[in-house]
Amino acid sequence: MSSISKTSITYDPEKYADYQSVESGTILNIELNHINTNLLLETHQAVWSPTPFAIKMGEFIVSDGCHQKVVMDFASGSGFLSVIARKSGAAKVIATDLNPKAIMMTKHNWRLNNLHPEQLHAIESDCFNAMKGNSEIEGQVDMIYSNPPTIPDFEGDIKRLSAGDWNINGKGGRIVNDALITQGRYFLKSGGEVLFITTSKQGSKLTCELLEQHWGKGVKADSDDPLDYAIDWETRGNANWAVIKRVDLLLSDYYLPFLPKIRQFAKEQGQPEPLIEKEGKLYQKTYFIRAKNVD
Ligand SMILES: C[S@@+](CC[C@H](N)C(=O)[O-])C[C@H]1O[C@@H](n2cnc3c(N)ncnc32)[C@H](O)[C@@H]1O
Repeated sequence: MSSISKTSITYDPEKYADYQSVESGTILNIELNHINTNLLLETHQAVWSPTPFAIKMGEFIVSDGCHQKVVMDFASGSGFLSVIARKSGAAKVIATDLNPKAIMMTKHNWRLNNLHPEQLHAIESDCFNAMKGNSEIEGQVDMIYSNPPTIPDFEGDIKRLSAGDWNINGKGGRIVNDALITQGRYFLKSGGEVLFITTSKQGSKLTCELLEQHWGKGVKADSDDPLDYAIDWETRGNANWAVIKRVDLLLSDYYLPFLPKIRQFAKEQGQPEPLIEKEGKLYQKTYFIRAKNVD
């Protein structure tokens, strides 16, 4: 998979899901000058390329600094977050994805950025399944970063061909989200943290309840949507988890076929409005949640 003579385009962070459909083998030249990070990513139409969600997560990785840390990129797609973590000083990156082509592209993009293969452990895994019982991973991770899929299932069999098909993620689009909340702690060292993105499309009350059950006390907003706030992580007091960034993101056309399912799930589960309308346009609330593994 040589990158010689392939088309190269400059990535525009303002574009939404547009990069999912560029021709496989296109080189995205990603210049994130505001965080002093430049990298190359080769696209594959069956592998998810970065969107504004991933860019914001990348900003957090850079500001965290990963010096000498063992980092897990959970649901790695193109490997974008893995590359940023290593460039930010991670000693080792464990990248996982259900999609075998995502694992292939994560390894490829790692090399494309001149990173040494020894520091990458890329594993095809349905959530944590392939890592359970692996003593080199369980309880060994300092930091898990994840931008999980959010698309609810259609009825019937799923044929996973395009990058978007790999984001179809069970009732409410919650499979990876819930695995992270219910099992993520077992892969972290004591004091290790997870930083992940969740959305109003998946039901914020359900996410809040699950976090309380598995991570203990968190910071909650006193409103119908308990995750509708953001605070500085350092100001959380004795809470183990908090929303550290809240952004309304324009709903890309990519989600339109799933709107009835998203609305039906919210209604059935008694969740807050999954989408917000502003000046005739639909937005989803996105919440960046940080949680600490406190024994
Ligand atoms: C929104 S993409 C994020 C990709 C990349 N981390 C980024 O930020 O650009 C979500 C990823 O989750 C993966 N995925 C879907 N279901 C999964 C599962 N059950 N276990 C692990 N990964 C899964 C998809 O293949 C896809 O690569």
